[in-house]
Order: sequence, then C-alpha cells, then structure tokens
Amino acid sequence: MTDNDYVHGYSERERQRLRDQSQTLADLLHHDTSYPAGSRVLEAGCGVGAQTVILARNSPEAQFTAIDASPSSIATAQAAIGSAGLCNVTFQVADIFQLPFPEASFDHVFVCFVLEHLRQPDEALRRLRAVLKPGGSLTVIEGDHGSTFFHPRSAAAWRTIQCLIDVQAAMGGNALIGRELYPLVRRAGFREVAVSPRFVYADSSRPTWVAGFTRNTYIAMVEGARDQALAAGMIDRPAWDKGIADLEASAGPDGTFSYTFFKAVAVAP
Ligand SMILES: C[S@@+](CC[C@H](N)C(=O)[O-])C[C@H]1O[C@@H](n2cnc3c(N)ncnc32)[C@H](O)[C@@H]1O
Repeated sequence: MTDNDYVHGYSERERQRLRDQSQTLADLLHHDTSYPAGSRVLEAGCGVGAQTVILARNSPEAQFTAIDASPSSIATAQAAIGSAGLCNVTFQVADIFQLPFPEASFDHVFVCFVLEHLRQPDEALRRLRAVLKPGGSLTVIEGDHGSTFFHPRSAAAWRTIQCLIDVQAAMGGNALIGRELYPLVRRAGFREVAVSPRFVYADSSRPTWVAGFTRNTYIAMVEGARDQALAAGMIDRPAWDKGIADLEASAGPDGTFSYTFFKAVAVAP
C-alpha cells in the first residue's frame, strides 16, 4: 500500500486523530478484550499504535506482534510503545496479504479499522485465519458511517459524510462495512461469530465525548476527505463549508451526535 491508497492518509493530523479516537473509545471498544499470559497475539494494521498501546497495557503478559504496511506508521507505533514503557510488542512492516509468518503461529488476531480500507476484506480475513492456531480467536472492530445520526439534522452535513463514503469507495474501501462483519467473518471460515454493536452518543453534558469523538475523531475524519472530494468534483467549496459548519453544530451546546461501531469475535476452526 502506498500513501495515496489510504483514504485518511498519513499526515500528523491523521496520526493525532487516531490517537484521540483510541483514547476516547478505549473503554467502549476494549473493556472486554484481554489475552492470557504467554499467548501470542497478532495485531494486523496497527497504524501508529493507537490500539496497540491499549491492548499491550491491558494484557501485559501476552506477547504482541504488530504489523502495518506503512514503515513510517510502524516507526511511530514503536516510539509510542517505548514511551508508554511497554516491552511486550514487536513490530514488523508487513502486508496482510503476504504475511511473513508460518501457518498456526498465533493464538489470537486483532484487527481494528483496517478491513474498511481493503479491496478484499474476505481474502484478508482468510490470510489472517491461516496464521491462527485452530481454536484461536479473531477480534475485528469496524465503524459504519451509515450509522451516523445527529441533531440539528442537516442535508448539507450529510453530503460531506457521503463524500467521505464515496471517496473511500473510489479507493476500493467500504465505510459501511460494520454492518457486514457477521457475514464477512463467517464467509472467511470462522465459527462462533458474535458481533456486538458499540454505540457512541455525545451531547454537551458529555464534553469528553464531544471533543474526543464528535470533533476530534468524526468531524476531523470527514474534513480529511475534503481535498479528494473537491478534486473529484463530488461537491463544491461553499457546499462543503456549509456541511462542515452544520456538522460542527452537532458538537455545539444544543447539538447531539450518535455513531455505532461493530465488534466481532470469532474462533478459528
Ligand atoms: C485507519 S488505520 C487503523 C490503524 C489502527 N488499527 C488504529 O485503529 O488506530 C488503517 C491502517 O491499516 C494499514 N493497512 C492497510 N492495508 C494494509 C495491508 N494490506 N497490510 C498491512 N497494513 C495495512 C494502513 O497502513 C493503516 O495504518
């Protein structure tokens, strides 16, 4: 994967967005994920290590291998783990579609916000299944932008979200993948697939969620698609600015914002 193939890019702003996202969502997404002492865990598509730090801290006796296709993200992730004082993670630049591990190398695989960017999420899951031991577990977390609703309602704001969905689709991704996790994971040959929705709700009585999720995660993510959406002629500048201003109103004193993540857990045959 090159930097141009990834809808959110690898800018410093995107790195900060991923960190804000993981901190705000840490408990909601990870409270029920922990790995036993001595188990070997593969995190595929670790990015800048935003989830890696949480996983490694929650399971200090497990041994993590974190891979990503981007060398600069791996370097940042390595630094993040170092400054968190954690020593149970090794990093490797590697492609999910060409995993440099023998079959049945891992007890657990963890994937977060990666399948939505892949042209072949089914194949990715099959490749990951191959490196899992029989009876090993898969955990996948994805969002679904179609689950977004907010107040005040605004068609202009929805146009900007639709631009992000369309930009990602044009790059071969699927920003609506959360709703598909159950069939995707089953088709890849896993058993005991269990999907749980993780609902986010923010209003001004929950300022941490408004700042950490509505503003710094969600609106920042939509804004990240601006240049591509404008260049592709999906929207013009005034319509974009109006949409973002309306989205920002959902983070205002009388605004509300809702979104659902999907977490699938399954067992390798
Ligand atoms: C949205 S980021 C998520 C990063 C991290 N999991 C998180 O939740 O913060 C997606 C990551 O997947 C990586 N990625 C995409 N395709 C990949 C592939 N084929 N092999 C390995 N990594 C890949 C990208 O480089 C990027 O770092």
